[in-house]
Amino acid sequence: MRKPFIAGNWKMNKTVAEGVALAAGLRETLTGVVDIELAVCPTATVLSAVRDVLDGSNIGVGAQNMHWKASGAFTGEISPPMVKELAQYVIIGHSERRQFFGETDETVNCKLEAALTYGITPIVCIGESLEQNKAGETVAFVGRQIRGAFAGVSAADAVKVVLAYEPIWAIGSGLTATPEDADRIIRVAIRDVLVELYDVAVAEAIRVQYGGSVNAENMATFIVMPNIDGALVGGASLKVDSFTAIVKNALAALRV
Ligand code: 13P
Repeated sequence: MRKPFIAGNWKMNKTVAEGVALAAGLRETLTGVVDIELAVCPTATVLSAVRDVLDGSNIGVGAQNMHWKASGAFTGEISPPMVKELAQYVIIGHSERRQFFGETDETVNCKLEAALTYGITPIVCIGESLEQNKAGETVAFVGRQIRGAFAGVSAADAVKVVLAYEPIWAIGSGLTATPEDADRIIRVAIRDVLVELYDVAVAEAIRVQYGGSVNAENMATFIVMPNIDGALVGGASLKVDSFTAIVKNALAALRV
């Protein structure tokens, strides 16, 4: 059984004071939620303070990016040991990093391996552009991203990875994939490829979140799909009320 997992990706939002207030609010409203794993992913400068606020709670903390080297002359980067001090998760290969900061399947693979080496749970993002979607290239493209991300990763390590299927055209746009389409892509472009790379047991063990304009209204329609194990939430994770409503609606849908 895969435990559902909902994480908030705060992106480049929230100062320390704002992040602390949001985390403190969520700690209160989400107390007692045990059936869904929860995490927030603040920007690097806010990690330490949010970690302190959420210490001992049911909400984990994730970084949004890291380098794969342990240390060195990489101005502006943060390393796996630095993340490990403050967070349990790290988002890797978000489409915004692929688009604006030159991340490739190769750097994603290096970062994935580094996260696993340091015992940080990677949340690896994959997903197609609108052009690729329209051209019918989604399955081939996402499949390539999966093969690239997992290159050289053992089955024992692979099951520790969390994936987030985020169609780029659905991010921040108010558009979403239909739950049926997202579920089908996750089945054929992700799980079926994982069966090829590993086996059915590994493919069925790996959790896959959906991301892209998830909100309190549509969360339930995604979480009930057989291949969707939660969500990576952007904009709607920036307010206590909206992130809380997402989690509560997901819980209600799972209990039906
Ligand atoms: P939105 O929920 O704002 O569309 O962002 C999704 C996302 O990119 C999460 O990583």
